[in-house]
Amino acid sequence: MADAASQIDFDALFAVAARVQPLAYAPYSHFRVGAALLADDGQVYAGCNIENAAYPSGSCAEQGAISAMIAGGGRAIAAILVLGEGAELVTPCGACRQRIREFAQAETPVVIADLTGVRARFSLAELLPASFGPDNLRR
Ligand code: THU
Repeated sequence: MADAASQIDFDALFAVAARVQPLAYAPYSHFRVGAALLADDGQVYAGCNIENAAYPSGSCAEQGAISAMIAGGGRAIAAILVLGEGAELVTPCGACRQRIREFAQAETPVVIADLTGVRARFSLAELLPASFGPDNLRR
């Protein structure tokens, strides 16, 4: 039987992330990131990073995509793709790994891309092993 991830249209996630990445507001780092996620409602939600003159007030692309998902009525992440440029893989920062964790499963695909295409694919558990999540608060 095909696993759930094989049903996911990663090309569609790439296309959406590539569309929003140039729209990022990153006048300080000049490092633009786009994110696209497939939610449990079948919709694709996008986000890009938004920096701020007060640097810590900036937000990541993944954060924006999750915010769009929640505001759009989605409640779970089936897959997320993050797109950024450079020699290094643009994997989600630590805080975003935890943000994804809130709405995903251990096996949820986290796909890393640059402008030329997909470069790597991880499970959430690979990026955030032995994580703390909503189940920890159920007693
Ligand atoms: N950034 C993201 O949006 N997502 C990531 O996965 C890594 C980093 C943003 C934050 C900041 O605006 C810029 O990239 C440089 O760190």
